Amino acid sequence: MSKTLQAIRGMNDILPEQTPTWRYLENTLANLLKGYGYQEIRLPVLEFTELFARGIGEGTDVVDKEMYTFLDRNNESLTLRPEGTAGCVRAVLEHGLTGGGQVQKLWYAGPMYRYEKPQKGRYRQFHQIGIEVFNLPGPDIDAELIVLTARLWRALGLADAVTLQLNSLGSSEARATYRDALVAYLQQRFDQLDEDSQRRLTTNPLRILDSKNAQTQALLADAPTLHDYLDDESRVHFEGLKARLDTLGIDYVINPKLVRGLDYYGRTVFEWVTDKLGSQGTVCAGGRYDGLISQFGGKPTPGVGFAMGVERLVLLLETLDLVPQSLSEPADVFFCAFGEAAELAALRLSEQLRDALPGIRVLVNAGAGSFKSQFKKADKSGARFALILGDDELAGRVVGCKPLRADGEQQSIAWDALAAHLATSLELA
Ligand code: HAM
Repeated sequence: MSKTLQAIRGMNDILPEQTPTWRYLENTLANLLKGYGYQEIRLPVLEFTELFARGIGEGTDVVDKEMYTFLDRNNESLTLRPEGTAGCVRAVLEHGLTGGGQVQKLWYAGPMYRYEKPQKGRYRQFHQIGIEVFNLPGPDIDAELIVLTARLWRALGLADAVTLQLNSLGSSEARATYRDALVAYLQQRFDQLDEDSQRRLTTNPLRILDSKNAQTQALLADAPTLHDYLDDESRVHFEGLKARLDTLGIDYVINPKLVRGLDYYGRTVFEWVTDKLGSQGTVCAGGRYDGLISQFGGKPTPGVGFAMGVERLVLLLETLDLVPQSLSEPADVFFCAFGEAAELAALRLSEQLRDALPGIRVLVNAGAGSFKSQFKKADKSGARFALILGDDELAGRVVGCKPLRADGEQQSIAWDALAAHLATSLELA
């Protein structure tokens, strides 16, 4: 028995009624990024598995449990990218884009893949728009990344729906010392930890800080905090970032337990979070990763970036009813033609209109049909005018132009005056 074909669980079709919202979001951000001097980079969806294992880190959930990994026909282990940073770092190194201290301010967009349990706001194929900046070590660029996301929220009407959480993870030495202190503290309370946290105590102890388990969180209340272990340089960097956000009036909440799920971060980390989407409320997240490039064999090169989840932002816009009405644009005119000769004339005239009035939206009836059925289609299309071509119009080299959205008589317009007439009636610039 043949089974109905279905999409893979957690991999969504984005249907025509949703794509205008996606494009609105993508275009708004792309325009904004142009204004800050960012350039687009396009990266492969597949990379060697080793890139993610080394970049994101063994012991992280993403690498240990969530990667789509397979052997290709040449027995090479490949992985569908679970995120964009590792591939972007690989690309800039491979093409020498960061050599000699060159600054790069890059953005990318596209699908990412993680084998997570699907639920609202969490999918196995999801889309990110991300930014990565190289060779700028100071807090000024960390601030710029946050400032431009704040500008995006304002442009989309989301400013009141999201809050900024901020933390500093310090230098790798500071983190190592803190990790030892945290492990020593939790080791003494090992039996009271949840099972996941017991496992993480050896694999990735800092991740215990964002455990969802209430008893573990209670234990953590008196645990040493990362801030007590921050090195001086990281402290100064963090103060510099906060001063810039304060100057611009961007509110933030310091969350000492914000550690992020990927291993490459040091110093600044941040997340924009909403309480309107249930448990998957992080819409944008990122931080600094100054150690990642040297880990891949490059010269030490500062890096910082973030990625936003497109599905979550679209959900948020829909939930808050913030999708602009004007996004779905109906046609301007709908050509109805009766008979073979009229169909040919309609075809020629519609192409002439597209030449004369770039941007005009012209629908031409396809599949013939009676006057009644073509008129019904014209009405349903949402077009402002029906253009009518029958035998009489053909003979007189005119078209009938009937307003569909307002009162008014049908007018007879000569073929060579049609473009000028429509330019005025449709108020096309
Ligand atoms: P991330 O926190 O793993 O960071 O993902 C960034 C964002 O992608 C999340 O905040 C969320 O909005 C979205 N996202 C993640 N997983 C899913 C999922 N399964 N379904 C739907 N949306 C999801 C990164 O990926 C880093 N590469 C960000 C970065 C760039 N850091 C520095 N540069």
